[in-house]
Amino acid sequence: MRPPPTTLWHNARVATLCAGAAGTAPDDGWGLIPHGAVFTQGDTIAWVGPEADLPLALPALPPVQHEVDLGGALLTPGLVDCHTHLVYGGDRAAEFDMRLRGLSYEAIAQAGGGIRSTVQATRQATEAELLTLASRRLQALLAEGVTTVEIKSGYGLSLEAEARCLRVARALAQHHRVSVRTTCLAAHALPPEYSAPAGDVADPRDAYIQAVCEWLPQLHAQGLVDAVDAFCETIGFSPAQTQRVFEAAQALGLPVKLHAEQLSNQEGAALAARFGALSCDHLEHLSPAGVAAMAAAGSVAVLLPGAYYTLRDTHLPPIQALRDAGVPLAVSTDHNPGTSPALSLLLMVNMACTLFRLTPLEAVQGVTVHAARALGLTDRGRLAPGQRADMAVWQLNHPHELAYWLGHNPCLRVVVAGEERA
Ligand code: NIG
Ligand code: FE
Repeated sequence: MRPPPTTLWHNARVATLCAGAAGTAPDDGWGLIPHGAVFTQGDTIAWVGPEADLPLALPALPPVQHEVDLGGALLTPGLVDCHTHLVYGGDRAAEFDMRLRGLSYEAIAQAGGGIRSTVQATRQATEAELLTLASRRLQALLAEGVTTVEIKSGYGLSLEAEARCLRVARALAQHHRVSVRTTCLAAHALPPEYSAPAGDVADPRDAYIQAVCEWLPQLHAQGLVDAVDAFCETIGFSPAQTQRVFEAAQALGLPVKLHAEQLSNQEGAALAARFGALSCDHLEHLSPAGVAAMAAAGSVAVLLPGAYYTLRDTHLPPIQALRDAGVPLAVSTDHNPGTSPALSLLLMVNMACTLFRLTPLEAVQGVTVHAARALGLTDRGRLAPGQRADMAVWQLNHPHELAYWLGHNPCLRVVVAGEERA
């Protein structure tokens, strides 16, 4: 077997995101190497350090086959968008209009709009149409250095339509140079066919949740599910219903995450933490008990400034309490047609700073190392030996500029698993 190809990426400012890495100042959380290089072997990083140390390092490494001069540009880990709803039909621009005229997200949802209107458009679309639409959205994310993306179902809400959306998510990884992690969010909303009470079951939501619990093993058997999510909210599902979904996931050995405390406090985060959740997402109404539970479980807090902004929310997530408790903070687009039609992860980094008062370092960790952790991935998000060679090259001087520019894409090139993306 041929040994994996090797490449030396050099003449770069390297932001490793590893505090205390060789060649970096000890108190620099960016792990910045001003004149740095990265040696990749196949899809893995074999060496990172100051270019001046190369003569010492090279004898211990396999021969360099390719050399790429990065011209002094900034090199960072590839970005991770850890919470998206990329696969859907239609759009909800008309609801944007309605909300601007004073209707609330909940009122629109209760009147049959909201998620359910996207469900109708998604069900009407063919698998090929969904793939085309999602591909276009994904391309916008990829152009900004995204190398890993999480994609949720949740606009199909039938076994067949959820499977279709998850297949599209998997297919995106075949059509684009990106890692895709799929999340089954069948417990997103009550589909119309369950609206009337069924038989002797009082709450139609219970009947739907039962169906979701029966679908999960089938979707999992088709290799379509990496994690399971739910929308725990007054307009979504109750904590008891969410728990049933989590139990079904746990029985399959699938990790869970949760849309928690977005519009009200349901103590959903504490429930998710009891199931060892990878992450709890949104969290505007997270309670002190929820913070403590997440810290104890090691769950990541995924902050979604795009939804906060679009809903013109004013209730901030308890950022300082999360920080004090040592909960890792991630940042994501939450791309969806209703509450966050955002296709720029860099804009979310900026908004996490301006709206949520994250520091630029926290916000960039939020779309790299902590976002990877929100997906249960420890092999990416930093530049260090053994990590996946997913990297982004930027026309920037310092990585804090990733949080600074507004509506500008300074991404020059992207490396996925050791190979440059065309
Ligand atoms: O993450 N909160 C629930 N899910 C989405 C919104 C979905 C929609 O409105 O279509 C979210 O914000
Ligand atoms: Fe979401």
